[in-house]
Amino acid sequence: MSFRLLAVGLVLAGAVRSQTVHAVGDIFKPLASPALAVRDLSYLVFAICGAIFVIVGGLLAYALVRFRRRAHNDNSEPPQVYGSSQIEIAWTVIPILIVFVITMATARVIAALQDKSQPANAVQVTVIGHQWWWEFRYPGSNVVTANEMHIPVSPAGKERPAFLTLESADVAHSFWVPQLAGKTDVIPNRDNHMWLDPHETGIYYGNCAEYCGTQHANMLIRIVVESDEDFDRWIALQQQPAVADPKVSRARDAFLGMACINCHTVRGTPAHGIFGPDLTHLMSRHTLASGMIPNNFGGLFAWVGHPQAVKPGNLMPDMQLNDKELSQVASYLATLR
Ligand code: CUA
Repeated sequence: MSFRLLAVGLVLAGAVRSQTVHAVGDIFKPLASPALAVRDLSYLVFAICGAIFVIVGGLLAYALVRFRRRAHNDNSEPPQVYGSSQIEIAWTVIPILIVFVITMATARVIAALQDKSQPANAVQVTVIGHQWWWEFRYPGSNVVTANEMHIPVSPAGKERPAFLTLESADVAHSFWVPQLAGKTDVIPNRDNHMWLDPHETGIYYGNCAEYCGTQHANMLIRIVVESDEDFDRWIALQQQPAVADPKVSRARDAFLGMACINCHTVRGTPAHGIFGPDLTHLMSRHTLASGMIPNNFGGLFAWVGHPQAVKPGNLMPDMQLNDKELSQVASYLATLR
């Protein structure tokens, strides 16, 4: 456990040095239009509920104090009063009006978010939830990555929003990056949609918000929001086939001879599996196993060697590799920039 915490700490420390990191839980600091709309709506609901709490609680406190038992009470029953049309109408009509106001305000926000039209420069991303990791596909550009989504920053006046299509490969998940938007369910056999227009660059964290099995808590979403130029450069890099470093050609051949390729794709090689994450540019990602451990040589050794120790129950089997095979796989993967 401490290894895991240390690992996540190292990852976070590494990220802090280069880019602003927006912490997971900061729902009160929205940095995109959908999250701002949700925040403003929740303030309205909170204000209404707060007022009801103060009024009801105040009346209750007043009654408790004003009509408390006193020393000179004679224990006789108080006058019994039944029925008051005015009061009953009031406490029926007022709550209906309150619920109506909240319903209309909510419907307005939902409609505004769902009806957002796509500008021509919008970035399309298909998000696929898996037990227990995220796949991100960029339709039309041949880019497939995992767990770390890159999108451009979309400031006022220079909007370039990302439109997401959410799908699931297995069970229901939920995609939630609190500072960017509300939760959207990720459901098998159904496409859901949402959009993000981050107003600031940096790294945003989110997590799966629908219980989806043992490792539900370990489906970290990492969104890298960067300038237009950086984003376009990233896309161009991801479009390249995998690096074929001659220094690791033997390790590469060994890797391609193993069962790994049944589940993983390395573009430009015979590895075409689609069950697990695409490894073509594995080393351009900062973490392994959905944010659980840092993606470096040591992390690769730990993950490939004992995936079930790092993330029990995950669908990557322990391949029982011997030391030589493990170091071949790790040395080859470490070249996939
Ligand atoms: Cu995926 Cu919870």
